[in-house]
Formats: sequence, C-alpha cells, structure tokens
Amino acid sequence: MKIGITVGVPKETGSGETRVAATPDSVKRLLKYGFDIHVEEGAGRLAGFPDEDYDAAGAKVVSAKEAWASPIVTKVAPPTEQEGSALQSGAMIVSLLEPYRNAQLLQQLAQGRVDALALEAIPRTSRAQAMDVLSSQAGIAGYRAVLEAAHHYGRFFPMMMTSAGSAKATKVTVLGAGVAGLQAIATARKLGAAVEAYDVRPETREQILSLGAKPIEIHIDESGSGQGGYAKELSEESKKKIQAALDEKLSKSDIIITTANVPGRKAPLLVSESVVANMRCGSVIVDMATPSGGNCTLSKPDEVVDHNGVKIVGYTNYPAMMATDSSSFFSRNIVSLFDLFVKQRESGESTFLINLEDDIIEASMLVHQGILRMKK
Ligand code: NAI
Repeated sequence: MKIGITVGVPKETGSGETRVAATPDSVKRLLKYGFDIHVEEGAGRLAGFPDEDYDAAGAKVVSAKEAWASPIVTKVAPPTEQEGSALQSGAMIVSLLEPYRNAQLLQQLAQGRVDALALEAIPRTSRAQAMDVLSSQAGIAGYRAVLEAAHHYGRFFPMMMTSAGSAKATKVTVLGAGVAGLQAIATARKLGAAVEAYDVRPETREQILSLGAKPIEIHIDESGSGQGGYAKELSEESKKKIQAALDEKLSKSDIIITTANVPGRKAPLLVSESVVANMRCGSVIVDMATPSGGNCTLSKPDEVVDHNGVKIVGYTNYPAMMATDSSSFFSRNIVSLFDLFVKQRESGESTFLINLEDDIIEASMLVHQGILRMKK
C-alpha cells in the first residue's frame, strides 16, 4: 500500500496566518493512503495542534528546509518567492495560490518545473464539494464576521423586554449571499437579528428566504449570474440602479455585512461614504471584501475605522481567527483532494497519478511540467 511519497507541511509564515494545512487527524488519513508526512516543527501550534500530537499521529516533525524539500508540499496561503524557490524541480505544491494576483509566482513555479495546484481553481461542483476550501473557509468567515459585528456593536441583537426597559431587534443587512453571506445570515438570525439580504444572482432569493431573512429585490435588466455559479461584472447602468435602491436601506441598517465579490475583479463598491454618513452613531459595517478592495469606500485592511461613530471592520482573514476549526476543515478538504491522485492497482499496490483527464485536476492544476495552464 505504501506510495513512498513524502508530503511536506510547512509552517505558515504570512502575517496573522494561524492555520495549518494538515492536522494530526488528517495526517492519520494521509498515512492510510501510503504517504509519508513531514510536518515542520511548530506548524500547528497556533491552531492548537502541538508537535507531539503530529508525532503521535505518525508524522515526522522536521525542519523548514526538510518540509520544503518534499516531493509534495501542501500549505494554506500562497508561497512567497523565497518559499517557491525552496521547492524541488518536479515537486508539486497544493495550496491557495490567488492566481489572479500571482502571475509572477506561477511563472516562477513553471520555470522551476514545479507543478502547482491552486485550491481556489477547484470547480464548484457537487463532486468537488468535499475538496472545496473556499466554501469551508468562507462558512467559518461568515460566522466569525457576525461575531465581530456583535463585538463592536453596543446593543443587543434580539428584541429584549426586561424590567429595565426594552430593546428593538437589530437590523442587519447582508450584501452578497454566497457561502460567507448565507452563513452570516444564518448566524445573525440565530442571534435574533432582523436580517435582509441582497445578491445580484437571482437564484439566491430562495436561499435567503429559507434562512428566515428577507431578500431585497432590485430589478435590473440583466442577470448578475456569471460562469461557474459566480457573479459577473455588471454594466454601469445596473450598478447605478442597484446603488440607488440600496442606499436608503443601508443608511437605516444597524449592521451591514458585505461579502460581494466577482472573481478576478476588484470588489464592487456598494457602501458609499454618504451612506456611512447617514448611518446612526454606533452602527457597524463588516466589510468582508476588504482583501479584494472592499465593498465600502472607507474600509482599511486589518483596521477598525471609526467614521463619525460608525465602525468599519476591515479584517482580512476571519478563518485565521478560528484556526482550530478552519485548519480541521481545510485539512479534510486536502485529504479528499489527495484521494483523486491515489490509484489502487489490482495487485493492491497504490500509485500516485496526476490524471489531467479528471475535470477537477484539469481545472486546478495551473502549472504542470513547466507549462502554465491557467485559463483567462
Ligand atoms: P464569491 O465570494 O465570489 O461572492 C460572494 C457573493 O457576492 C456571490 O453570491 C455573488 O453573487 C455576490 N455579489 C457579487 N457582486 C455583487 C453585487 N454587486 N451586489 C451584491 N452581491 C454581489 O462567491 P462564493 O461564496 O464563493 O460562491 C460562488 C458560487 O459558488 C455561488 O453560486 C455558490 O452557490 C456556488 N457554490 C457551489 C458549490 C457547489 O456546488 N459545490 C459549493 C460552494 C459554492
């Protein structure tokens, strides 16, 4: 059963990154496939997984150099240029690669003849669901964003009647009802808020309703649905129409959570400075699109901006704020993905095979044998 290929799990080096791509539990699963696992010393510490637990699970705890020298390396965030150059020729990296922003990194990997599988390029299909780190991490982010909103908000979420007086239910508006947005809606509803939500994709209406929230209906002369289930860039005319319809509603919200994104583009601007100026003092905006430029004009990466008493939260890595669960989910996605590469022969022997005829591998293997395969 032994494949005899080592999978290296380096420690994340990005600022604020606390996650790890393999947990002791996922190590056990990967060992069952016949891989050897080399985990960098301290790789799981910030996610609550000490070296001893990896050792007990059967991994070898190694130096950074040894982890990066493995024929397969899996990590969470894209490698830096220096990390990329530590990969061996013929090796494969499996990680988030942010391909739209990282053309130079992909070029570097291709020149070094390193195969690169970008986790964000895995298609959003039923078969790929178990490998979909974008969904597993976005769900956590949507949940955490609501907790951050509640933390920065000085009032109750639910309607409260007490002997000392009553409090009205908080009005939460969620913009973008994809994976993060739907989880934000569900979490805000569980906390007792009155929730409204808007998405350019008409098919989200039923999902918003099913979570007990009210869909905001805006009629535009085109569908916002693009390829692969994602949104598409809208015409200027549609954008203006949406803005005009949203502005009043947003100004009256106590909390706005924005998650709107269009792949490969700057995030659409949906919350203008004049909307913020009209919001009540003490209101909170959580702009989850801050990493892609922000849905609110005033958000700043990893800052909480106070604009005349309205707080605008611009954190850029919510999953890293819940590193244990996000690492567990991420690592399970990785195990499911690796299952695609392991083929068991009739003799019982397992082999590792990169089959580009498999639609998931075909779509996500952005560099193979020195060739850049990314589609525009
Ligand atoms: P995302 O992070 O790219 O975007 C978030 C949301 O923002 C999307 O729902 C998008 O429609 C919306 N949006 C874009 N521009 C907007 C605007 N101007 N105003 C309001 N909303 C705007 O999307 P995410 O969460 O990654 O989901 C993408 C798609 O993939 C969804 O259709 C989702 O249902 C689908 N999906 C399918 C899966 C499967 O079948 N296995 C698994 C996960 C997601």
